[in-house]
Amino acid sequence: MSNTNGPSLLRLGVIVTLAGVISLGVVFFWFSPSNKCPPPVFRPVQYAKTNNSLTDKAEEKPILLLWVWPENYRFDFSDCKKFYNIDRCQLTDDRALYNSADNVIVYHRAITDLSNLPPSPRPPFQRWIWLHLESPTNTKRIRGLENLFNLTLSYRQDADIPVRMRLITRKKPNEDFVIPKKDKLVCWIVSNKDPSTGVDTRNIFYREFSKYIQVTLFGKAFARFLGYDDYYPTMASCKFYLAFENSIHKDYITEKINGPLAAGTVPVVLGPPRRNYENFVPAESFIHVSDFPDVKSLAEYLLQLDKDEDAYRKYFNWRKHLTPSPHLILQRQEFILLTFNYMFLDQHLLLILDQHYSPKIQT
Ligand SMILES: *[C@@H]1O[C@H](CO)[C@@H](O)[C@H](O)[C@H]1NC(C)=O
Ligand SMILES: *[C@@H]1O[C@H](CO)[C@@H](O)[C@H](O)[C@H]1NC(C)=O
Repeated sequence: MSNTNGPSLLRLGVIVTLAGVISLGVVFFWFSPSNKCPPPVFRPVQYAKTNNSLTDKAEEKPILLLWVWPENYRFDFSDCKKFYNIDRCQLTDDRALYNSADNVIVYHRAITDLSNLPPSPRPPFQRWIWLHLESPTNTKRIRGLENLFNLTLSYRQDADIPVRMRLITRKKPNEDFVIPKKDKLVCWIVSNKDPSTGVDTRNIFYREFSKYIQVTLFGKAFARFLGYDDYYPTMASCKFYLAFENSIHKDYITEKINGPLAAGTVPVVLGPPRRNYENFVPAESFIHVSDFPDVKSLAEYLLQLDKDEDAYRKYFNWRKHLTPSPHLILQRQEFILLTFNYMFLDQHLLLILDQHYSPKIQT
């Protein structure tokens, strides 16, 4: 299980935190759409859900039970089919299916005390999956969870089921990418300024940085709310985007870098060390704040790139071979979309979860 130390700030008001902390924690992951489910998990006969008659074939899909909706946000499970073509598993929140569920997902933040965990004893074939997507800074330790879960699901690479951004590799080089038209230099969309969530580092950095270069600000924290339709176009119109994580932890690299990559903007990242970023995105697709001895040199470098079209263009060379995917943003309300994807890899059931927040609550 991942570390869960850090201040227990997360009690006052889910909404506030949602707007700020949690949403920040959204790790953006995606996976190529897949309709592959694993073969049904082996289970002893007495637990068989069905009796193998042909009419019951549909019921043979592995059951994945979501025990509690994260933050009470809901989406229609049919979205999994709609957006990801995931159809060969049964996703459900129906607790009546508990005894036949192959996997039960428990969202860490929904565990207020141990009484709202799924009941014991559990069926012997069943695996409990611990789902958590926030950084240790924004995670409350809950005593008594040790040795309860069979699998961890988080953004960390060392989770049993890591959920991560993946740029999709192209077979044929793409020469068609055109850098979107720019009318702003540096932009930042930010809604969370609450120091208790770990954002001090980026706030301090920003204050210093903005002395040397103009930054166009959007987002709740600056009363310049960006709507759904404006999110990608706005980002695309900026030459650089400040992809600053709220707190700095290994592998904690979220949709904040994906937005600009997908929009056609160069992310300036603040988070774990460059080498950690390079595990996930091409080295030459982003600028790391630690590439420079100080804030002023970073600002000067950006100003110089602004005048040097060829040098700027080099930040997009990776697009020939890799394709970013915009993370899903849904109009309706502020809600989380979770989708699940089962795959079978080397005899291990691998479950990939995709979680998205609307841009309203992003950053
Ligand atoms: C299996 O299911 C079929 C159709 O639902 C039913 O007619 C049959 O009696 C069942 N057999 C057993 C052994 O439960
Ligand atoms: C899951 O973990 C529990 C608690 O450690 C254990 O008792 C159970 O056998 C495990 N189940 C599976 C299917 O591995």
